[in-house]
Amino acid sequence: MRTQVGIVGAGPAGLLLSHLLALRGIESIVVETRSREYCEARQRAGVLESGSVQVLRDAGLAERLDREGLEHGGIYLQFAGERRHVDFRDLTGRTVTVYAQTEVVKDLIAARVAAGGAIEFGISDTEVDAVTSDKPILRYTGADGVRREVSCDAIAGCDGFHGICRAAIPADLQTVWESGYPYAWLGILAGVPPSTDELIYAHHQAGFALHSLRSPELSRLYLQVPPDEEIAAWPDERIWAELQRRFALPGWELKEGPVLEKGITPMRSFVSSPMRYGRLFLAGDAAHIVPPTGAKGLNLALADVTMLAGALTSLLRQGSAKLADAYSGTCLERVWRATHFSWWMTTMLHSTPGAGSLEAQLQLSQLRYVTSSRAAATSLAENYVGYRPVPMPG
Ligand code: FAD
Ligand code: DHB
Repeated sequence: MRTQVGIVGAGPAGLLLSHLLALRGIESIVVETRSREYCEARQRAGVLESGSVQVLRDAGLAERLDREGLEHGGIYLQFAGERRHVDFRDLTGRTVTVYAQTEVVKDLIAARVAAGGAIEFGISDTEVDAVTSDKPILRYTGADGVRREVSCDAIAGCDGFHGICRAAIPADLQTVWESGYPYAWLGILAGVPPSTDELIYAHHQAGFALHSLRSPELSRLYLQVPPDEEIAAWPDERIWAELQRRFALPGWELKEGPVLEKGITPMRSFVSSPMRYGRLFLAGDAAHIVPPTGAKGLNLALADVTMLAGALTSLLRQGSAKLADAYSGTCLERVWRATHFSWWMTTMLHSTPGAGSLEAQLQLSQLRYVTSSRAAATSLAENYVGYRPVPMPG
């Protein structure tokens, strides 16, 4: 078999890349170990930066997003018994949109299938080979058990943190920066209307809590828990009691409802450089992971492939390697900004087990600062809605 771009992984990165390439007349195949149903049901991120919304709109993928997405002009930061609003619209002129990653994935799969794009689900034993040649090879075993070999012009490793593509870059050419956190997030999807008009990020001595949403009928809530926590230790009543405690505010009520789904997500910061080796390009979680506080993971994945689609188009259609050569460096600048922002939001809002009371005082001082100084609030806001560098005057 032969195609122009072999794409490993049908997450948001791989699916959007195949769509953007098709719009530019470039053929690809997407191969995915999981089933379509699994990819469409996986509960993950929920916040799209304005730039991500624009990319999806420009690609003709935003029909349902424009109808069902919920535009948010800010967030609340809650600490020391107060809830303060950070107004993104006022501070940056931009907003974010709450639209679940599962919905983005459903829309992307539907668009690829409708366009007759090649996506194979339920494959196994993926291999990439000859990636430093002009004809890299993608091998896998199809759902029918037949081993296949695809000759490509380039391969995109969009196979997430646990994928195989990053390991195809020789270890001595790769630099990795990694750090874990001494806590995890327990997330629930609840069948109850959101109790708030904007997301609430709550600092509490018992640990961080986040109130997000999925629709006017569905709430999404998260709690800081120990990193090695078992979900069995958290029956629904205990989850609601802890959420009630961490969000408590006089005159405000957290509405409870049936827990439709729950799970625990570990947290880490991870960056691997370079994101390109020969004709193998990494994008999204395959190259970098951020802790979820700040909602950057999905947005970084979409930004990487937007850049990659342009780079592959000039490489494969015009024979120009300029954008492909710049791909890793350009992406990593944005990745490091988001890595710092996510780490900063995380360490400002979570309580470190065993840390003394100094940590809490420093966090409270920082929270008071970002909610009282326009300069500090603008810094948070411009990172949250998606930082775009601008030349400094003078
Ligand atoms: P993925 O979505 O991971 O897609 C990679 C795909 O590759 C998967 O479908 C996988 O099955 C497939 N694959 C893996 N190996 C192979 C192989 N060998 N061959 C073929 N296919 C393969 N971000 C936030 O901003 N907020 C959140 O609340 C949040 N929650 C998260 C919860 C969890 C449990 C996880 C794992 C991530 C969460 N994230 C969150 C991060 C965000 O969801 C990711 O950044 C985003 O999914 C990245 O997209 P991606 O396409 O790069 O990778
Ligand atoms: C959601 C996840 C995040 O990590 C975040 O910072 C905000 C919202 C969400 O799943 O809705």
